[in-house]
Amino acid sequence: MIERYREFLPVSAATPVISLGEGSTPLIQCPRLSERVGRSCEVFVKNEGVNPTGSFKDRGMTVAVSKAIEHGTKALICASTGNTSASAAAYAARGGIPCVVILPAGKIATGKLLQAFAYGAKIVAIDGNFDDALQIVRELGATGDFAIVNSINPDRVAGQKTAAFEIIDEMGDAPDFHLLPVGNAGNITAYWIGYREFLAGKKSTRLPAMIGFQAAGAAPIFHQRIIEKPDTIASAIRIGNPASWKQACAAIVESGGAIDVVSDDEILASQIWLAQHEGIFVEPASAASIAGLFKACNSGRAAYSFQEIPDGSRIVCTVTGHGLKDPDIVLQRMRELKPVAATITDVQRAIGLWQPPVISSEVEISRET
Ligand code: F0G
Repeated sequence: MIERYREFLPVSAATPVISLGEGSTPLIQCPRLSERVGRSCEVFVKNEGVNPTGSFKDRGMTVAVSKAIEHGTKALICASTGNTSASAAAYAARGGIPCVVILPAGKIATGKLLQAFAYGAKIVAIDGNFDDALQIVRELGATGDFAIVNSINPDRVAGQKTAAFEIIDEMGDAPDFHLLPVGNAGNITAYWIGYREFLAGKKSTRLPAMIGFQAAGAAPIFHQRIIEKPDTIASAIRIGNPASWKQACAAIVESGGAIDVVSDDEILASQIWLAQHEGIFVEPASAASIAGLFKACNSGRAAYSFQEIPDGSRIVCTVTGHGLKDPDIVLQRMRELKPVAATITDVQRAIGLWQPPVISSEVEISRET
């Protein structure tokens, strides 16, 4: 990714590029989501879950880790709700430096914790939430022993803005609306920088309205106050005091966008809807942008109603992380699989296709095979 957008990134010939082939993620045209919006509007999903460690964090991490190593850093440190730690651990391994991750105990999705272990990070779980972990990381970073690779590091944000570049490069211009989940608010900040930079460089002719979605139980920006005990099933965005709060507000106001909330039920329903209607399986936090799209279409409760948007508007929803990272909730809903006998009839019956045998059935089967 650094090579693709080198001229827009804070790198030079002296920067060792630590990459795992991140970025250039698919922008998927979604007919069924488009139908939900109607009036010839087109909805695209930017699927960041297909990055090397399964989330958008890799875009920022390749730059942050490359720069940290260029500066002679001895070790990396981050606080995380899961994805940043997985990404930092992977890029640290790739760069050959140690990585410490500070996590809220018991609040990290299984797949993400597993990744941090597998990549060999030093993992410290604290009895506290993400905001407590980030405070500790800020203090440890100030000792000079570590490079912080959270999005308070501008190199992370610089890397993440490339997602906006890719969208413009692919669509030929910026979309009219950009919807995304908001947690620590680094990503909405990064996209807005990216969109503005390409407009200034005449690579696009317009800016999208940025519409961010927080989980209802973890919505400090929406409520305009710190949430002491943020709570949501979408553990990635369980954050009560976002580091890039001000920048997120600026992006929303300057772009004529909005900040809104979606409930856990809406998030989970959208996660399954997207998987079953568009074939894109994302983690719950990522489904907040889809839940938000549905809410915007249902003008009654939405901070931004799509009822008035022009026909043919183009809408991009970023989905930030892969569904396999957080399997526990879907697992709970899966019915137990009881094996059936290994015969065609039993398998057909299990599929729900079974019909009483008729004389021509053998002919039908042999024709199909
Ligand atoms: N979606 C996912 C899957 C995330 O992991 C995060 C943040 C967000 C959305 C929100 O992005 O913080 O830039 O507003 N995860 C961080 C982490 C906090 O530690 O992995 P944001």
